[in-house]
Amino acid sequence: MSALVVLGAQWGDEGKGKMTDYLAETADVVVRFQGGNNAGHTVEVGDKQYKLHLIPSGILYDDKLNIIGNGVVLDPKALFEEANYLKGLGVKFTPEKLLISDRAQLIMPYHRVLDGLKEKARGKADIGTTGKGIGPCYTDKAERSGIRVCDLMNKEVFEKKLRRNIEDKNAIIELYGGETLDFDTIYKEYLDYAERMREHVTDISVRIYDDIKNNKKVLFEGAQGSLLDIDYGTYPYVTSSNTIAGGVCTGAGVGPTMITNAVGIAKAYTTRVGKGPFPTELNDETGDWIREKGHEYGVTTGRSRRCGWLDLVILKSTARISGLTSFAVTKIDTLAGLEKIKVCIGYKFEGKVIDYFPASLEDLAKCEPIYEEFDGWDESVAAATSYEELPENAKKYLKRIEEFTDTRVSSVGVGPKRSQTINIAEL
Ligand code: GDP
Ligand code: IMO
Ligand code: MG
Repeated sequence: MSALVVLGAQWGDEGKGKMTDYLAETADVVVRFQGGNNAGHTVEVGDKQYKLHLIPSGILYDDKLNIIGNGVVLDPKALFEEANYLKGLGVKFTPEKLLISDRAQLIMPYHRVLDGLKEKARGKADIGTTGKGIGPCYTDKAERSGIRVCDLMNKEVFEKKLRRNIEDKNAIIELYGGETLDFDTIYKEYLDYAERMREHVTDISVRIYDDIKNNKKVLFEGAQGSLLDIDYGTYPYVTSSNTIAGGVCTGAGVGPTMITNAVGIAKAYTTRVGKGPFPTELNDETGDWIREKGHEYGVTTGRSRRCGWLDLVILKSTARISGLTSFAVTKIDTLAGLEKIKVCIGYKFEGKVIDYFPASLEDLAKCEPIYEEFDGWDESVAAATSYEELPENAKKYLKRIEEFTDTRVSSVGVGPKRSQTINIAEL
């Protein structure tokens, strides 16, 4: 029995796509369990680069099953756009390769409209969302007015639910000064999606359970990161789903005892897109240097990512909350060339030193990072193919991560390609 969770240990964009693709080589099934097309996962194989948003990163292999779980908010327009993009790159898109949960919530055009209008109305207090309708769709799920994939599969049910929603949402859109939406146009558009999706739709919990019981290796590909989690992230500057390991249970209908490992993907430094607190942020030349060297620009929105030092307080919290069995540290090649590298090992807070992440943003604002300084390493790191070949200073850095978080490092990324991954310990 083998079920492995791959999740972001920071604020997203840690390299989950690359690691999922790498681990998928020996897996049978890859499952997305939360989020939607707000995600942007990059995979590089040979000289080809793939940017995935909604479809699991296992899609690049012809012999793997990919699953969009019930915890995902699914935009059918985005799904078929991505399928066409992949087909253009020679990737097959068939029901044998992709199953969709009948319980997944659908992102509707009014969700995208409301995402934009609500952000605008927040003014300076905006969250900096991706604008994909994620928050409004999860709002409807919690409010119990959402439309699920199984509803779309039944024309009459869909019509009834859509009519009620359009009426309700148009009233809100008007209130925000937006343009109202037309029922007929959306109805027709979605019925077309329904037919194209039908063959992919199933009860994915049943399928995943059977696969795990039959000794298949199942990977759960997280989107976003721990600090964007709706409960444990920097609320309200978070996404609207549970990005932590617990999200797998609710988002894919899998019991906690079925999960065997959880690997936290941690960038060797920290980045964040959108608004919200970031204790180790570097608003200086070093921050700019890291951004350019690491190509830190969003895959989904193209926005530049804020950059800062590695924060071990964050990694320690993630290890605890998600019960991590290991970390996969990515992008140590990006830091090559820096003479000194800093790492946050605690916060000074009201005269005390703390090593956990406070809930209140007001408390977090009072936290002052305490740094430890490391000697840097050179560019030879990018050519390393084994742990032994890594520069000594890079090894010291990795050892400190393990020691502080009490969690081993199972792999290291030294470049964006599938092959540029150093495996240290089997998962
Ligand atoms: P995700 O959202 O977690 O999948 O990460 P993104 O794809 O948004 O951003 C990670 C970026 O770093 C992508 O451009 C990857 O190709 C790249 N990347 C991943 N791992 C490494 C690594 O070890 N070294 C380098 N240089 N780039 C990496
Ligand atoms: P991957 O999977 C980084 C951020 C947005 C915003 C907040 C809420 O590529 O790591 P949303 O549209 O979800 O309501 O936006 O969450 N965000 C991400 N940041 N990586 C992501 O995904 C993100 N998905 C959402 O920038 O701050
Ligand atoms: Mg990303």
